[in-house]
Amino acid sequence: MHHFSYQNHVLFAEDCNLKEIAKQVGTPFYCYSSATFAHHVDVLNDALSATKPLICYAVKANSNQAVLSLLAKKGCGADIVSQGELMRALAAGIPANKIVFSGVGKTDEEIAFALSKDILCFNIESEPELDRINAVALDNDKKAHVSFRINPDVDAKTINRKIATGKKENKFGVDYDAALGLYQRADKMDGIIVSGIDMHIGSQITDFSSFDEAMGRLVDLAKQIIASGIALKHIDFGGGIGIPYHHDVSPPPTPKEFGVLMEKHMQGLDLDVLIEPGRLIAGNAGILVTEAIFHKQGDGKSFLIVDAAMNDLIRPTLYEAHHDIIPVDEPQDEEMMHNVDIVGPICESGDYLGENRSLPKVGRGDLIAVLTAGAYGAVQSGTYNTRPLVPEVMVHGDQFHVIRPRQEVEKIIALDSVPDWLK
Ligand SMILES: Cc1ncc(COP(=O)(O)O)c(C=O)c1O
Repeated sequence: MHHFSYQNHVLFAEDCNLKEIAKQVGTPFYCYSSATFAHHVDVLNDALSATKPLICYAVKANSNQAVLSLLAKKGCGADIVSQGELMRALAAGIPANKIVFSGVGKTDEEIAFALSKDILCFNIESEPELDRINAVALDNDKKAHVSFRINPDVDAKTINRKIATGKKENKFGVDYDAALGLYQRADKMDGIIVSGIDMHIGSQITDFSSFDEAMGRLVDLAKQIIASGIALKHIDFGGGIGIPYHHDVSPPPTPKEFGVLMEKHMQGLDLDVLIEPGRLIAGNAGILVTEAIFHKQGDGKSFLIVDAAMNDLIRPTLYEAHHDIIPVDEPQDEEMMHNVDIVGPICESGDYLGENRSLPKVGRGDLIAVLTAGAYGAVQSGTYNTRPLVPEVMVHGDQFHVIRPRQEVEKIIALDSVPDWLK
């Protein structure tokens, strides 16, 4: 559910006319609905009320300070994967004792910084990492609370192999069969306090049998660890809940169905529960608005060339991901539809936002909206072709606020430095 809808035949974000926003900030721009973000947290809390997890929002999905501040106010914690994300989460008011630190390559500096902030937990992904965290903790006179991210060797059946993380061949997590031995080692280390167990098997998971299997394996292991005399405090089921991207494909299972699975697996296990959703909270809360530059008729192919490109939203190029794309002016019932590829100005054949889409005639200056772009959109953008990062706007009822301005090309150029011998 989201708050982008046609009102009087024009697309609105909550009560803001997107054409008006475009006039003020220019195109392209990301637009987020604060009500949708808040609603998603409420839906999750309601769906998971039986196990009452701490929602550690996966900051990587959308790390704008306004988004994080909103989620902090909704009581969320954070799942972070770098010192930068930790600094963002803390700056937005997410308390350190609600922050877990994931990722396969934490540096000593990052570990020391996180220890100095007393975060809730390090989600450890390998034995060498355990040794480093222990060493850095001892050097800093600290004790690190840790969980091991278990690789349950379960196929997450995601849409693209690049977002699957829970199979043996993926770089993530510790081997299921080796985990108990690692817990026993960690439990004896002076710089370590074993506190949890976690998993994250992939993203955009729409077949919940994968969650069912992985949760079952994680819970079995948790029971073995507890039976071996190690006191666990929490279990973390990760993120990965899929969201609808296609209006004409049946929607994925609901958060309620995820809640039913968690409740089933938590029977008889007295542990605090954590989850790390990103996409579910941010995905449908954002769109990318772009303006048509030209319509180009190729030989047997029609292209709508727009001012947003793969540097602004890389998901179609990187994952062959589908985003529904709609015109900001509502199509009329009788309007003729045309088949087009919606492409950006970047010099790459992979630069497209949508292929073979049915759109009414959209011409120069018309606006279109790429839906479900709130997660893994702006955060993955770059400046390829010296295209400045686009603005992000957050809407609240009939008000909007530019939460990141358009980058200035002069500032991008000024980052470079020409050595004297070239002058
Ligand atoms: C460790 C970890 N937790 C949580 C997430 C969030 O996943 P999603 O956005 O699919 O919920 C990710 C994303 O890849 C992740 O790597």
